Amino acid sequence: MVNTMRRGWFIVLLAAASWTVKAEEGMWIPMLLGDLNEEEMIAMGMRISAEDIYSVNHSSLKDAVVVFGGGCTAEIVSTQGLILTNHHCGYGSIQRHSSLEYDYLTEGYWAFSQAEELPCPGLTCTLLIRMEDVTERILDRIPAEISEVERQKVIGERMEQIKKEATGSTHYTADIEPFFYGNAYYLFVNEIFKDIRLVGAPPSSIGKFGGDTDNWMWPRHTGDFSMFRIYVDSANLPASYSPDNVPYTPKNHLKISLEGYQEGDFTFVFGYPGRTTEYLPSNAIRMITGEENPIRIHMRDIALGIIDRAMQSDDATRIQYAAKQAGIANGWKKWIGENKGIRRLEALDKKENFEERFQHWATKNPPVREQYGQLLPAFEKLFAELTLYARAETYLWESAFRTDLLRIAGACRTLVDKCREKESDRALIDKELTSLKNSLAGQYKNYRQDVDRELFLQLMQAYYENLDPAFSPPFFTEIKLKYKGDIERFTQDMFASSIFDSEKTVMDLLGHYKPSDYKKIARDPAYKLAIELRDYYFNRLVPAMQIMEARSDSLMRIYMKAQMELLPDKRFYPDANSTLRVAYGRVAGYTPADAVRYDSHTTLAGIIMKEDSDIYDYAVNDRLKELYSKADYGRYADQDGTIHTCFIATNHTSGGNSGSPVLNAQGHLIGINFDRCWEGTMSDLMYDPDMCRNISLDIRYCLFIIDKFAGATHLINEMTLVE
Ligand code: ARG
Ligand code: GLU
Repeated sequence: MVNTMRRGWFIVLLAAASWTVKAEEGMWIPMLLGDLNEEEMIAMGMRISAEDIYSVNHSSLKDAVVVFGGGCTAEIVSTQGLILTNHHCGYGSIQRHSSLEYDYLTEGYWAFSQAEELPCPGLTCTLLIRMEDVTERILDRIPAEISEVERQKVIGERMEQIKKEATGSTHYTADIEPFFYGNAYYLFVNEIFKDIRLVGAPPSSIGKFGGDTDNWMWPRHTGDFSMFRIYVDSANLPASYSPDNVPYTPKNHLKISLEGYQEGDFTFVFGYPGRTTEYLPSNAIRMITGEENPIRIHMRDIALGIIDRAMQSDDATRIQYAAKQAGIANGWKKWIGENKGIRRLEALDKKENFEERFQHWATKNPPVREQYGQLLPAFEKLFAELTLYARAETYLWESAFRTDLLRIAGACRTLVDKCREKESDRALIDKELTSLKNSLAGQYKNYRQDVDRELFLQLMQAYYENLDPAFSPPFFTEIKLKYKGDIERFTQDMFASSIFDSEKTVMDLLGHYKPSDYKKIARDPAYKLAIELRDYYFNRLVPAMQIMEARSDSLMRIYMKAQMELLPDKRFYPDANSTLRVAYGRVAGYTPADAVRYDSHTTLAGIIMKEDSDIYDYAVNDRLKELYSKADYGRYADQDGTIHTCFIATNHTSGGNSGSPVLNAQGHLIGINFDRCWEGTMSDLMYDPDMCRNISLDIRYCLFIIDKFAGATHLINEMTLVE
């Protein structure tokens, strides 16, 4: 919004051209493919129909795609409910079954019979039964002048009613999600499976090959897959774990292609991208990339320094912190790439130029001016304030809320509150005790006092030093007055006097619990701090942010509608919102920098070239080397005689698309999506067709590992291979 008009006008013309959606950009709604995309998909080479991908009338590919756990995708690949997803998606489950004695993270795991498949309590898979556009019912005659709160109330009531009708007496669940910032609403009827078992995982030296060094980058050689199976009751319906459950018989499963692909071939990704924000104003992008990302990166630099050192020095710690570390490192690296990409793409300039054009249009004639003329100034004002809160919130999440001691102590709040009530109910207390003991046992399994104390000390130090004083939580005053700013002494005191530092003390207390014991918890310094910070968060930050976010939502709803009116010829796709989408594109290399050209696939030979036994991430398994030296590839080699390990394509994907099937023109599985290229990680905020590539595991490398490396040929025999 700061450019001169002259420069502005020129760039507006360019921007207009690049704002038209290219085939590669977009995450499309499966039930609208026939109307919006089928023609283009066929022109790009697709040989099946939109109905083959999504249909409610007959079985379609959508019957083989599920949400895996909280945030990944998986695909069904046999008539017996066998599913494939990423290694990093199964990581938590693999870790939970791992110990120094059975280190499945390091060694891998293969079930050689269904009896050996390992239950994973808490893990679910969600299958979409059908979706429906319910916009008209939700938005029917909502008066324009009612307040945002009233509006949300009306919408909420309508949603409940529609969901009730949709599920009726079935075992299905229903969700309704807003699209285009509340300009449209869709209903999703789902079936949730609750008995999911671990079937197979390669060793980390394959499944996580390249580790954090290669993460978010191309060229890549990660064998990022793991296998699970969905179990159901004897009526083929979802059921909680029972030894009597049987493998699920799906309506459809994916056929697997051994044919490979050529540069330029059509592909599509069918899965559950989590969240993208392509239509935000420049102020929002400035807040995210200029304020939030740098804080997150800085705080995670600190956390990773501590955790990585601890993991390298001790094997038990390595297992304990594996999943936590992977999560922290993944976000850290993504935000670094995102910021670089936004800068290189001059995304802020592009947005500002568009906004100039928008403002010109929005103020030109009276009816439009009345509706949209004040939008951009309103955003500017809103984000100036929201940014202050966002900084405070980000610091809190990246410091206090990251430490296990405070998380464990804070988990006792319900128990304490229940015991404090005058007429406390022993049955309720017992119920809470049981669930608390369970959840704390899980948390203590991965707790190390020395690591957590160091994390607390250094993260709190950074929080204390960098936070805008206007947002200080009350305990900063104590640090200042009582401890003269010496966080180290505060940390020592807290860890020395808190019971939560010792699993045994806490479990003993909970094991022989009397209602009056709540006092011991309530006066504990870690508990007190945990509660104080939560209260600060929920009383000080959240209410103000909720008001601002509601304001931002309502502005975005109008801004989205306005953008669609300004650009009537542009084919808009809704931002990702964790609902099922189709992205399509082509297998394609790219030019990441001047004079550098990247091919679109990598090979097993590349793994051997990357080998470095001194670096954990680049250790190569001996058995894999042997298979390579004998070129024992079976039917999994490409026509060129090599094993292709990974490939890239121009499909627009995001977090949540991990594990998604990558399909060819016939709708056969050719890969498993697992990442994006470094130069394109900003695609959640702005897509660049030249640089954005999704990274997939070549399905033939996956099968080669299952069959030739692990000898789990019985699993291959369950699948339907197309040669
Ligand atoms: N970057 C991928 C994703 O966003 C894979 C992450 C897992 N790997 C890792 N080294 N942490 O989830
Ligand atoms: N690895 C990501 C995930 O877990 C997918 C890659 C991406 O963000 O594009 O969802």
